[in-house]
Amino acid sequence: MIRPILRYGAEVLHQPAAPVTEITPDIQRLIDDMIQTMYAAPGIGLAATQVGVPLRIFVADLSAGRNPAELLTFINPELVEREGTQLEEEGCLSVPGFNATVVRPARAVVKGLTRDGVEQLIEGTGLLARCFQHEMDHLEGALFVDRLRGLQKDLIVRKIRKLSKAGKW
Ligand code: NI
Repeated sequence: MIRPILRYGAEVLHQPAAPVTEITPDIQRLIDDMIQTMYAAPGIGLAATQVGVPLRIFVADLSAGRNPAELLTFINPELVEREGTQLEEEGCLSVPGFNATVVRPARAVVKGLTRDGVEQLIEGTGLLARCFQHEMDHLEGALFVDRLRGLQKDLIVRKIRKLSKAGKW
């Protein structure tokens, strides 16, 4: 089932998510829905908080569904290594219509459980490292907008407020 994606300003997006204590059928359904929602958007990553569930789960697929082998699901992920920096334009399904250049690690290693509860350690470089850091930020209640500084951040936040007031957000 495709779930609605919450937008910047929704409370759950701005709070840290809680660890998953047990991989129940409800969690499996949530993961199925997250994958479907990510593909439908379309996007290359989605955190549970974006569909209103404050749990530490994210899905990612740099192929956006073209290559099933690239689909990753992480339960209770942790960033165990980060190295270097990259500067690229980035967006978020919860901040539609906005992009900004965000500093991210050039390489990131994430450890966590698969949807079957098996421990996995995945190394990402380039776009995957960026995606990992972006999704991990979601689980801490941070969006890419929060990584921006001063004027750049103010400008986006102000535009979102305006859209909100007009009922267009
Ligand atoms: Ni995002």
